[in-house]
Amino acid sequence: MQTTQHKNTLEFAKEQDQKDPLKRFRNQFHIPKDKNGEEQVYLCGNSLGLQPKLTQEYILQELEDWSNLGVEGHTEAKNPWMPYHEFLTDKMAKIVGAKPSEVVMMNTLSVNLHLMMVSFYRPSIGRYKIVIESDAFPSDKYAVESQLKFHGHQPKDALIEWKPREGEELCRYEDLENIMEEQGDDIALLLIGSTNYYTGQSFPLKKITELGHRHGAKVGFDLAHGAGNIQPNLHETGPDFAVWCSYKYLNSGPGSVGGCFVHERHANNKDLKRFTGWWGHNKQTRFNMRHEFDPIPGAEGWQLSNPPILSLAAIRASLAIFDEAGFENIRAKSVKITNYLEYLLEEIEGDQIEIITPKNPEERGCQLSIKVQHANKALFDKLMAAGVIADWREPNVIRVAPAPLYNSFENVYKMVERLKALL
Ligand SMILES: Cc1ncc(COP(=O)(O)O)c(C=O)c1O
Repeated sequence: MQTTQHKNTLEFAKEQDQKDPLKRFRNQFHIPKDKNGEEQVYLCGNSLGLQPKLTQEYILQELEDWSNLGVEGHTEAKNPWMPYHEFLTDKMAKIVGAKPSEVVMMNTLSVNLHLMMVSFYRPSIGRYKIVIESDAFPSDKYAVESQLKFHGHQPKDALIEWKPREGEELCRYEDLENIMEEQGDDIALLLIGSTNYYTGQSFPLKKITELGHRHGAKVGFDLAHGAGNIQPNLHETGPDFAVWCSYKYLNSGPGSVGGCFVHERHANNKDLKRFTGWWGHNKQTRFNMRHEFDPIPGAEGWQLSNPPILSLAAIRASLAIFDEAGFENIRAKSVKITNYLEYLLEEIEGDQIEIITPKNPEERGCQLSIKVQHANKALFDKLMAAGVIADWREPNVIRVAPAPLYNSFENVYKMVERLKALL
């Protein structure tokens, strides 16, 4: 229905940009230039989002306060560093559909994943297996395998992969149901990427959560490719935990601090096993330095260290933009611009292009993973040389993500024209 209204012309793309209620946001980002001094077509927000112009200002503020105030900046800075992470919470919670008490920005994704597994992977003799999707990000697989071994289990026995069927690219929910029917009593944890990094498939998070819980397992999501891209509605969806990074769709800079969600049902459970540090301790008595560990209720109780303020400042700048734009509007544009990209790719003659990402907008964010038949990385390298920044995954997938805050319909049109010229 929607695609029939599209037109494969530059004029049409420009018209869409004119009508775009978020068009003013592109100018709030630094867009890298190609070798001819023209703005790149930057479709790589699934790997590293672009820098908001506001970021420098926010970071400079903290550098200035540090130079003027030294240690007193902890309490006297314009944005005091002691509670600085709290300034991020409300806006971050909105983007992932959580209650503020369920969210904290801390550490990085893989570290948070381990901390969450310390609390929510508590294997017993009978129930010790972990399910992940088969093309899970390698780091997640390493983390899960190391947790299994840490508890004395062998991945070949205790790690179950939810796989696409022979000859298919995408995972089917029914197959996860079958795994749970057959082995549910043995399964301690379902750890699923909300949106798969390779195929761009977004999974039915609520159904997966209910399925896991029905069988007595804990459920966690890796939102690296979900946060700022799709709306996971974490509170309502109900997983036990979720973790994400902030440098992809959340535009907070390379290696920036990650996010963590712990569902409200665990907020006051002081008996939950966890690894602890002083920043998770009751704020009233933290500086008495003598007390037994008394966790802050909610996600903040999993913090270890006082956080890197310069990184949090970058996140704060980015969240200000998300808040001004409104995540619903961002998602609405994401669906439109991704549909347009899909339409243009499908218009390419012949059968060289296959999009492996689901067609249904509810089963994907803004990333499309494209397989180019008979192509190798040379094609991708030429695309990059032509000013299109995307990324390549072996053996033959190009991932393109028109992140809606700074991409235009014209960008998408240009990308497909340049690809066509190379095919
Ligand atoms: C799906 C997924 N999980 C985990 C990671 C690892 O993140 P980090 O290096 O921040 O721990 C990434 C990084 O790109 C990712 O895409």
